[in-house]
Amino acid sequence: MGPGSVAGRPLALRGAPVTPFLTAEIARRCAARRAAGLPVIGMHFGQPSDGPGAASLAAVRRSLDGPDPGYWESRPLRARLARHYRERYGVTIAEERILLTAGASAGLVGVFATAFAPGDRVAIVCPGYPAYRSALRAMHLIPEELRVEAAAGYHLDAGRLAACNPAPQGLLLASPANPTGTVTGSPALQALLSVCRERSIRFISDEIYHGLGYAADEHSALEYDDDVFVVGSFSKFFRMPGWRLGWLIVPQGIASTVHDCLINLFLTPPTPTQHAALAALEAPGEFLPSIERYARNRARLLSGLRALGVTAHEPDGAFYVYADFSRYTRDSLRFCLRAVDETGVGMAPGVDFDPQGGASFVRLCFAIGEEAVNAALDRLAGWLPGYRDD
Ligand SMILES: Cc1ncc(COP(=O)(O)O)c(C=O)c1O
Repeated sequence: MGPGSVAGRPLALRGAPVTPFLTAEIARRCAARRAAGLPVIGMHFGQPSDGPGAASLAAVRRSLDGPDPGYWESRPLRARLARHYRERYGVTIAEERILLTAGASAGLVGVFATAFAPGDRVAIVCPGYPAYRSALRAMHLIPEELRVEAAAGYHLDAGRLAACNPAPQGLLLASPANPTGTVTGSPALQALLSVCRERSIRFISDEIYHGLGYAADEHSALEYDDDVFVVGSFSKFFRMPGWRLGWLIVPQGIASTVHDCLINLFLTPPTPTQHAALAALEAPGEFLPSIERYARNRARLLSGLRALGVTAHEPDGAFYVYADFSRYTRDSLRFCLRAVDETGVGMAPGVDFDPQGGASFVRLCFAIGEEAVNAALDRLAGWLPGYRDD
């Protein structure tokens, strides 16, 4: 009897179908090129190339000499996050409402599992983060995709949510958004929250790209409504994607239920990372040079792509440019696979974010070095004129 079979019969997979994360194949090819000593410029995954700050690394090193607490949730870190919300957004959040999670990804699963029943519909925007769709389906929920348009700055209009019939049970919205970088400013956020209240829609605010705004009107949903779920992460601003730590802020009164769920599903988040995260919150200045560089990279990438005849939407925040490469391709997956193989530039195909409309779109992450951005543009400039889909 081999793997995947029971008594010789094929093992039926009865879970909800999850679409592959196509960018993972680009990552695999980048890794293979690196292993073969070939040059790579990785702009496919949303991860800062710098790695954690010095204060975080020092804190982890110090912690290694102390006792190992085993499974652990840092109270000082939760208290420090509560202070962060007070100072940054002017909101008072009881420490018990802040739960530490193994990345925002685990936090989202915790919300999906506790706030919704199988078959509930959760509205998300398209183009949007691909794992939303798959994670919702895996939890037996139904993603209800609301299309947002470049011409409208990829904004979700509250009227659109009000017109959904019947009302979905939830709305999951990232601001700044992935892949578009769109920031839902204060009036728009308040309008969405008011529709959610009127129609009993649970609002899940994904704020993992906060701090990465380019003169944007960045607000936490908690400033306007205490009865929301907020998802945060140390992966982006704090540059620790592989360290797997995020947090959840949950409505008053349900924290212990969500916590019970998280403990059952994941136990506790990684211990060393919790030390690193506390140190990072105490040293925000360490991250500012990266943010200034991202702003320069953003400008350089936008102008470089436009010079190549690519229409690139200006992101308000995050560190992505979502660009329309229709002058060159109608098959963004094939285009990105060939780009990595032929130029070493890793990019994410638009079909990951928008399976129907993303065939001529590509997402490029600019949380990399300035020289790398210039080198990527040079390589694309040399390669694009000869590129054909067939
Ligand atoms: C919008 C959005 N939400 C959540 C996540 C997951 O982040 P984490 O690394 O904290 O699990 C990502 C990752 O790129 C993302 O883009």
